[in-house]
Amino acid sequence: MFQPFSTAALACAILGASGLIGPAVAQADASAAVRPWMNPALSLDQRAALLDAQLTQAERQALLHGALGLAYKGAPAPVGSLGSAGFIHGVPRLGVPALQETDAGMGVTNPLNARPGDGATAFPSILALGATWSPQLAHALGAGVAREARSKGFNVLLAGGVNLIREPRGGRNFEYLSEDPLLSGVLGGEGIAGVQGQKVISTVKHFALNAQETGRMTHDARLGEVALRQSDLLAFQVAIERGRPGAVMCAYNKVNGDYACDNPWLLTKVLRDDWGYRGWTMSDWGATHRVEAALSGLDQQSGEQLDEAVLFGERLAHAVDTGQAPATRVSEMSRRILRSMLEVGLLDRAEAEPADTAESLNLAQQIAEQSMVLLKNDQILPLAKLRRIAVIGGHADLGVLSGGGSSQVIPVGGATATFRAGGEGEMARRTINYLPTSPLEALRDRAGAQTKVSFADGRYPKAAALLAKDADVAIVFVNQWTVESFDVSDLSLPEGQDALIEAVASANPNTIVVLQTGGPVLMPWKDKVASIVQAWYPGQRGAQALAAILFGDINPSGRLPVTFPAAEAQLPRPVLPGSDSRDGAFSIDYEIEGDAVGYRWYARQDLKPLYPFGYGLSYTRFGYDRLEITNTDRLVVRFEVANLGSRAGADVPQVYLTDKPSGRTLRLLGWRRVALPAQGRTRVEIEVDPRLLADFSMDGHQWRIAAGRYELKIGASAADLALGGVVRLKASSMRP
Ligand code: BGC
Repeated sequence: MFQPFSTAALACAILGASGLIGPAVAQADASAAVRPWMNPALSLDQRAALLDAQLTQAERQALLHGALGLAYKGAPAPVGSLGSAGFIHGVPRLGVPALQETDAGMGVTNPLNARPGDGATAFPSILALGATWSPQLAHALGAGVAREARSKGFNVLLAGGVNLIREPRGGRNFEYLSEDPLLSGVLGGEGIAGVQGQKVISTVKHFALNAQETGRMTHDARLGEVALRQSDLLAFQVAIERGRPGAVMCAYNKVNGDYACDNPWLLTKVLRDDWGYRGWTMSDWGATHRVEAALSGLDQQSGEQLDEAVLFGERLAHAVDTGQAPATRVSEMSRRILRSMLEVGLLDRAEAEPADTAESLNLAQQIAEQSMVLLKNDQILPLAKLRRIAVIGGHADLGVLSGGGSSQVIPVGGATATFRAGGEGEMARRTINYLPTSPLEALRDRAGAQTKVSFADGRYPKAAALLAKDADVAIVFVNQWTVESFDVSDLSLPEGQDALIEAVASANPNTIVVLQTGGPVLMPWKDKVASIVQAWYPGQRGAQALAAILFGDINPSGRLPVTFPAAEAQLPRPVLPGSDSRDGAFSIDYEIEGDAVGYRWYARQDLKPLYPFGYGLSYTRFGYDRLEITNTDRLVVRFEVANLGSRAGADVPQVYLTDKPSGRTLRLLGWRRVALPAQGRTRVEIEVDPRLLADFSMDGHQWRIAAGRYELKIGASAADLALGGVVRLKASSMRP
């Protein structure tokens, strides 16, 4: 059996003979005198070591593994669990609370209605957040969700999805921010910081290279170290630096041959040794395959009913007893968990105030308003005074679409419509949820009594065309539902919706298409319609946000965080990997594009996408000038943005690296979201992260900037770069 550690010996070994404990404890307040690990004068490492040293064998063991926090397959929910994705027992006698973990990327979830009827604010999808390009909104979203979570008793949010969108058919793209490491890292990190500011731990996930759902439990994602460090890992690195998440959730898939949750290179070499990460690693649910994963760097087994057995309990203890695992590693595991709990404030947080629902709903609307991307506009938007509007399809009479899987949020009061996905196997159990409120109603409210707004469900294109023919404008809602565990097999709109658009556009040239999709789709009808608005999954205030945009109360300002391909043939892998695999034991060759993910691939292959990364129209126009690049101790880009039109609006000017000593390139270096009044002008300043100018060098394992000439360009998207400048840099290197 597991040997109890000698608490005094362990504390001594870790704290050394620094003499710090004595005087610091003496100065501490009463509770710190009783519980010295609560003494804020000590370092977090010292506090975690003191607390860890108090644990009995059983207490330590209990911290290292956890169950689903709900009734599962006939077994009751763990005692003390609130009803959520995960539960880890605490140590009440030492003031260590249980970890109550909930999925919460876009709102607090309630899986299987484990807390009967307990709804939460359903925010827009994370990809919609990505389309805002707004670190402030990312931070506010994290804080908003965490406030609701905390008021429900949760202290760990399984949030912070920063995987890069490499596969436009990916079923979880709506849970991720973008295809770019800087954009995903910055917004992801801000979201995490927002959560943890509320004394709630956030994860960052799914570490790493979890870019598609097909074969996700088994496939081997393959990519060489240089490209990996310059792409997917960079997103995690930036997010971790910015957000300091208490935990990192490793992914289901293998990375270069080893399961991500049993991958010493990822969990120990990169995360701990190179990046100096101090928090803990938790497995994804059902991603712990063997006890030895602890030696690879995994600290906690999550959702253990989904694994073959409880591996990090008795079995890990046995491994220690028999000398297969060092006891010091096991106490490192618990220390890391305790350290994050102490750092984020889980041991000293007060009772939470009830969350302010109105504030959350306003935030949901703000995000939706700033995320919708105007893709095309032939002078038809914003809508003027109209006699008749035809609203067609997409269940616009019922509500707005949401994505499925562990991130699904059901709002207070419930979904407005729930359909069974149908089909076979796991899909048969899935449901498609429409959330309040109905876009049809929101459009009616906004249009006013003078305008007749009629609806056709779109089941029959002919009936829809008849309705459209008599209207001043036709607004067609088209949807692509996506869900965790399943990729879409192609990028077309399902269920004949392309034909519906064609029929309506033939009947009425003033056709506006509103897309609610999990990511990019193809648009064979693009040239036949007057306007296209990408609304993503817009959350429970999405309908109001959309009405405000269509009628011009809000000037659209979302920008694509992901490239929309013109055809699947343009993708690095035109056929979805593993789509024909029976056992999921296939590998995915990400070396094809390497670190040239998304827009970088299109630039490298000289391909013209349907809509480029960074793209989005406005009801006004913007211009950029007065570029200045300075390079003293840091590279800073300054330029002016002017609103050249007669309407207030927000723009997202972007800075790209376009040439470097090794040759032509394209890489996002920075951006700023700026709101400007009509004819307004402002100067922006963007500091460049030197890693974006560098290459990761295997020789010496570091980032290296080569001496020479670097060309930077400012533009409205990755494919619309106007203003440029050049800077010469000296050779330099940075730690990994
Ligand atoms: C997902 C995670 C999620 C976990 C708990 C897994 O299937 O991949 O993102 O946090 O379940 O619900």
